[in-house]
Amino acid sequence: MIRPNAARGNHGITSVAESRSPSARSNLPRRAVRRTKMTTARFSFLAAALVVVIVCLGFVSIYSMLYVTSGMDKPPPNRHFAQVPPTKAKEWIEQVRNQFLHRYGHDYAETLLQKGVQSFGSLDATAVRMVEAAQENRPFVIAFSGYSITVGRGNFFNQSFPFVLEQVLEEPMRNILGIPLVVRNAAIGGIPSFPYGFCLEHFLGADPDVIGWDYSMNEGPRDSSVLEAFIRQATQQLRKRPMLIMLDRNVQRTSLLEKYTSSGYLQDAIAVSKKEVIDDKVFQQNPISEGFQDWDEFGAPRQCPGRGSWHPKRQEHNMIGWLMAMHFLKALERAYELQQSNMQGDSPVQSKNSDNSVAYGKPLSPKVAENDRRVMEVLYGHKKDNGEYTVGDLSCRTSFLPATDNSKVLPSLTVSGFVEGDLDIMIDRTDDHYKEGWVLDVSKVERDTKRKVEQCGGLGYIDMKIALYGIPDSGKLRLWLPYEGSATYDENNAKKWFENIIICEANEKRSDKACKLNRDLTVAVGGEEVSDIQQIKGAAEYLKRQTCVSVAIPGNAKVTPLGSVRSTDGRPLSLSDKEKFGRNDNDMGLIVDLTAKSTVTRQDGACCISHVVWEQYS
Ligand SMILES: *[C@@H]1O[C@H](CO)[C@@H](O)[C@H](O)[C@H]1NC(C)=O
Repeated sequence: MIRPNAARGNHGITSVAESRSPSARSNLPRRAVRRTKMTTARFSFLAAALVVVIVCLGFVSIYSMLYVTSGMDKPPPNRHFAQVPPTKAKEWIEQVRNQFLHRYGHDYAETLLQKGVQSFGSLDATAVRMVEAAQENRPFVIAFSGYSITVGRGNFFNQSFPFVLEQVLEEPMRNILGIPLVVRNAAIGGIPSFPYGFCLEHFLGADPDVIGWDYSMNEGPRDSSVLEAFIRQATQQLRKRPMLIMLDRNVQRTSLLEKYTSSGYLQDAIAVSKKEVIDDKVFQQNPISEGFQDWDEFGAPRQCPGRGSWHPKRQEHNMIGWLMAMHFLKALERAYELQQSNMQGDSPVQSKNSDNSVAYGKPLSPKVAENDRRVMEVLYGHKKDNGEYTVGDLSCRTSFLPATDNSKVLPSLTVSGFVEGDLDIMIDRTDDHYKEGWVLDVSKVERDTKRKVEQCGGLGYIDMKIALYGIPDSGKLRLWLPYEGSATYDENNAKKWFENIIICEANEKRSDKACKLNRDLTVAVGGEEVSDIQQIKGAAEYLKRQTCVSVAIPGNAKVTPLGSVRSTDGRPLSLSDKEKFGRNDNDMGLIVDLTAKSTVTRQDGACCISHVVWEQYS
């Protein structure tokens, strides 16, 4: 495939040479012209040389193809920068700026931007992220976490601010850096920062350069402690230690971003405002600037759900997206400058984002909730002798949607007691279903809301809080949590392998009678019943209900190799049963048994398992 192409002549050679240095590209055609005047001897010498060149070029392109398929080693360099003249880059940037000025009024747009976006850390750090993406010839990825506001409730999903940002920034980024912009809106209606924050790679992907945080209304108004835990998780779990976009201007939380960027824990962050920064006079002008017109209209039709007073309407989403885009436009402009001086060899662009883990100090938030030491360690990191905190590696399984990882879902842990089957999640589960075993289900409110949305054509939403539900009749649910570290310890001591287990329920409005994980669930870990189950306070609280518990690993608990795992009635696993774990017979894991206590009823609220999270010694 490569050779015939190259042999066909300049066209093939040039396209291969494109990925090499510019000098190689200009040499080849010249040589081909001279060839006609050569003597036979010189011709054959040259032909041989040409063959060598073609073979070499062949290797180069095999190499680059291998790179594409395997994703290993260094990628082929992106030469796009070299072809963009400064005047052109400036023009593309100015075009977008002018649109912004036009949308929000020439005499007001700049004020709006200054008030609407507070920047922390270094703009250069963000620019360097872009340069790196361009040099590695890969997309620049922005992934948003959040709740109903980010989802865009009341509007079409594609009208939510993340996609506005994408639309504005996509073209200049492609023109100037030659790479695509990828934006993921992974927000889920009605959730707080945790347990989502334990599972960031699952929801956001492993590769974001930038992540969004929008949970301000579900985290205390005068408190930054949950955001702080979230940032610690993000910098540990996501390999690029992404930039943070916070959709919030809470003083405690902006002050935390200030401290985190000045201590070097974070390189770059912005805090973005919603409509509260707008000067009322913009609505009294005649004519009203384009960006403020139809300000009171949601994007979805009137009869559709989601018109909560706290939900931004269509134009507010546009404004939020534009404000973010204008910040990234500055970074893009700077990225172009950096890359230009880089090519002239002035100052090589260097990233500070790829160091593996960050050593934090003690939590800086003034009001960190009192929790057991083991909970504090999962949230904020383990304190070492020198006073530094290192955040551990977490594994997570959840069936909440949307996710980039479709394999790390709850059924991937189940050994027995779970009713498999592909019953559409929109179909009500019957009591008989619950008697067969634990089932994947959603709360009544969730399904009813989803049905109303479907009557409106779905509005494009992709979020859904799917979880495992069980009552006493469902029997014992057996899970096997694979050990995902790389060390080997004593099989008879699970505490050597696993450090912490956290189990959470879906957040929804529930009465006090509804199953509580620390009160109404019998839990056995590694063959031993657990007596110590603590509710996590502060983080993972929703509508005053604590949704996560920390399950102590009993001293006598054992780990079990996959090959020795049995169902609760003693049946060995079939090959296909084992296959879903993606591990070998010798790989170790921890058996966790869950049973609803006799007091639990479906009517009052079944036991619900939405996230299983564990921390292991590497
Ligand atoms: C947004 O989504 C709706 C339906 O989900 C679709 O009808 C509409 O064309 C989309 N708009 C854009 C700009 O993609």
